[in-house]
Amino acid sequence: MTDTKATLAAIKARTKLPAICAPMFLVTGPEMVIAACKSGVIGSFPATNARTEDQLRDWIAQIDAAVGPADAPWAMNMITHTSYGRFDAELALVAEFQPGMVITALGGPHRVTDVVHGYGGLVFADVNSPRFARKALDKGADGLVLVCSGAGGHTGDYAMMPFIDEVRSFFDGPLIVGGGIGTGRAIKAVETLGADFAYLGTRFLATEESLINDAYRQMVWDSGMEDLIASRAITGALGNWMRASVEAAGLTPEDMAATAKIDFSQDMHNSAKAWKSVWSAGQGVGTVTGRETVAEVVAKLAAEYDAA
Ligand SMILES: Cc1cc2nc3c(=O)[nH]c(=O)nc-3n(C[C@H](O)[C@H](O)[C@H](O)COP(=O)(O)O)c2cc1C
Repeated sequence: MTDTKATLAAIKARTKLPAICAPMFLVTGPEMVIAACKSGVIGSFPATNARTEDQLRDWIAQIDAAVGPADAPWAMNMITHTSYGRFDAELALVAEFQPGMVITALGGPHRVTDVVHGYGGLVFADVNSPRFARKALDKGADGLVLVCSGAGGHTGDYAMMPFIDEVRSFFDGPLIVGGGIGTGRAIKAVETLGADFAYLGTRFLATEESLINDAYRQMVWDSGMEDLIASRAITGALGNWMRASVEAAGLTPEDMAATAKIDFSQDMHNSAKAWKSVWSAGQGVGTVTGRETVAEVVAKLAAEYDAA
């Protein structure tokens, strides 16, 4: 069984900054995770980014070997939706390599709790509403990731401050908060609001370690929050997409007003087609303006955090 408070304290003690380099589809690979952990923030990645089960094993082994006890820990993000075909194989790798944190998305946390609690790890459920937060806690999550309005990838509908306040009215356990956090000052602010960790995706999206191509990188550097379109058309869930990539893909405003069907039953690399042609970023995209490594981003965040 997991001692939640002690495990959370042990994880915090290994970080220099209360922040997580958030998992990003087709963006995060082992290099980004390792660089984040070595820089002092938790590095996480979506298991689905590895094309095959063998590649996933290689990635995890590489990360596990590189990240030592003096580094921040790494975390794995898993799709737990029942239609996701690779779930059992991914869970077996979790049991084998025992990441201290597993973050579940697009499905309930209950499918992983037995395994993760069995070795003393923590299960965080990615949620975008108080209703899903309560549901995840009922299903055994130790902690929550609140994905708020303005987040990159699949975004939330709710504003960060009231979302934290409402969840804090019924939950006093481990809390991670994401959506538009792009500076050390903002990390400090969410800590003040009651979060244990800030969850930053977009701030790391265009780093040297990112798997995106240079055109995507340039678009991130050139974009601000007004250059995004929130739409359900690409994946079925509400996502923030860069307008320039939407236009380049030939999609019209009518196309973007539609809702796509959610389906993870095919291998995720089917849906990769959409993510490869239409590019996502969150409303904090204006904080990313040029070439940086993960370590440089973390150093800036740490300086801003300390100054705040
Ligand atoms: C390009 C991109 C891809 C993402 N892919 C995933 C994903 O595969 N799984 C996931 O749980 N979250 C994904 N996210 C969301 C992030 O994990 C995180 O919730 C979000 O980036 C936080 O908001 P921010 O981008 O404003 O920092 C993605 C975000 C971006 C920008």
